[in-house]
Formats: sequence, C-alpha cells, structure tokens
Amino acid sequence: MRRLLVIGIGAGDPEHVTAQAVRALNEVDVFFVVDKVDDLVALRREICERFIADASYRIVEVPDPPRDRAAAEYVAAVEDWRARRAEVWGAALRDELADDGVGAFLVWGDPSLYDSTLDVIERVLAAGLVTFEYEVIPGISSVHALTARHRIALNRVGGAVQVTTGRRLADHGWPDGVDDLVVMLDARCAFRRIDPKGVEIFWGAYLGTADELLVAGPLATAGPEIQRVRAEARERKGWIMDTYVLRRGIG
Ligand SMILES: C[S@@+](CC[C@H](N)C(=O)[O-])C[C@H]1O[C@@H](n2cnc3c(N)ncnc32)[C@H](O)[C@@H]1O
Repeated sequence: MRRLLVIGIGAGDPEHVTAQAVRALNEVDVFFVVDKVDDLVALRREICERFIADASYRIVEVPDPPRDRAAAEYVAAVEDWRARRAEVWGAALRDELADDGVGAFLVWGDPSLYDSTLDVIERVLAAGLVTFEYEVIPGISSVHALTARHRIALNRVGGAVQVTTGRRLADHGWPDGVDDLVVMLDARCAFRRIDPKGVEIFWGAYLGTADELLVAGPLATAGPEIQRVRAEARERKGWIMDTYVLRRGIG
C-alpha cells in the first residue's frame, strides 16, 4: 500500500522542524511540492538537505490549477479550486509513487490551520483514482511562532480566542463574544477598520526567517507603523506573510 505523510514543517525557521517530523522526513521516497513562491520552495529544499540522511529521495513539482481570487462567491471558488487540485494530485500520486512507496507533502506551519492539504487528500481518496494510507505530523504554526516572539500567552485567564481571517474581519467587524483575536491571511490590513480604542496589536511577518519583522503596541499607534513597515517589506521582497493578535479591553 502506498503511504502518504503530511508533515508540518513550522513557520519558516528550519529549527521549527520537530524530532517527529525528522523521523518522517527520513521515510520519504517522493516529496510532492506545490508552492510557487521561490523562497518557500527553497526553504523546503533546505529542510530536506539538512535533516535527511540518505539523499535518494525525489522531488516532484505538482502544477497548481489557477485559482479565481476575484470571484464574488469566495467559498464556491475555493471549492472548485480544491476539486481541480485533487484531480492533479491524484494523478501525480498514481504516476509518481510506487505501490509500496512513501510520499509526502511538506506543509507550512501546522497542517490543521488554514491549509487545504488535508481536505484535498480526502478528495483524492474519495475519487478512488489511487489508494493510500496517510498520517499527519503536527508542526509549529505561525500563530505559535508569533506568540513566542512577542512572549505572550494566546489566551487570557479562562478566556476564549478566535482565529479568523483578514477577509472576515474586514467584512463583518470584530466578532461577538470574544476579546482576543488571531488574524491570518490578511492582505488588506483589516485592523484599519477596527475602532482602536483599548485595543492592542501584536504583529509579525516572515516569522522564523532572517527577514522577520515584529511590531506591538496600542493599535492607534502601532497600526499605522505596521502599514508602513508591511508595505515597504512587501515591495522589497515581492510577497509577505503576516499574522497578528488583537487584544481588546485593556486600559
Ligand atoms: C495558508 S495559511 C497557512 C498557515 C499555516 N498552516 C500555519 O500553521 O501557520 C497562510 C497564512 O499563515 C500565516 N503565516 C504563515 N507563515 C507565516 C510566517 N512565517 N510569518 C507570519 N505569518 C505567517 C499568514 O497569516 C499567512 O497569510
């Protein structure tokens, strides 16, 4: 039976790779790579070179179907994209992985957090084109890289935390019933739409990498600073990944 390992590799620092992930990496015959950002592909290669003792593995690049990011129906567009991804991944697993081979997807951060890999794999299995067993190896998420760098706890005593997206924050505002928010996938600085009174922000970009940026403070003053720093960094590198915690009800 083919085996597939979905390995969380952490948020950017090769030292985020856990002992369990190293054990899994060393079992792999074929790595399937879908990323297009050069820096992220390079980091995956660096992790393989650094942690794998026997370099007899292969790397197979899997083309990513185009995704309609401007679609009015966001959920339908994502559904459609994942379905097309599953077709391409199914064919790649069938054609590139031997019947008794071990394949792997290296997933940024942790595979359970805002990542489509597990859903696409379930779709591949449901389609029946290829059969395999699979295992998930957890990784250090960008959220935990962020809280560690700012030396903060994610929750306050007995409190709830909501993890959300920049899109949801921009479209629906601060959600009810929670004073602590983690915001991911925010291309538009959605924190600009929030009333800054009594709100603190803890922001980080390129966490765990040599380009890491951190800003924290009251949203009223740190917000404009983050917008400036973020725009400069994005311009310089051509891409950005950032995450932040918003905490309300202080002072
Ligand atoms: C598709 S999600 C993947 C999340 C990932 N599975 C995790 O556990 O962190 C991509 C989002 O994760 C966040 N992210 C991932 N890596 C990051 C990093 N090194 N620094 C800051 N944010 C990061 C950003 O919010 C980015 O928009």
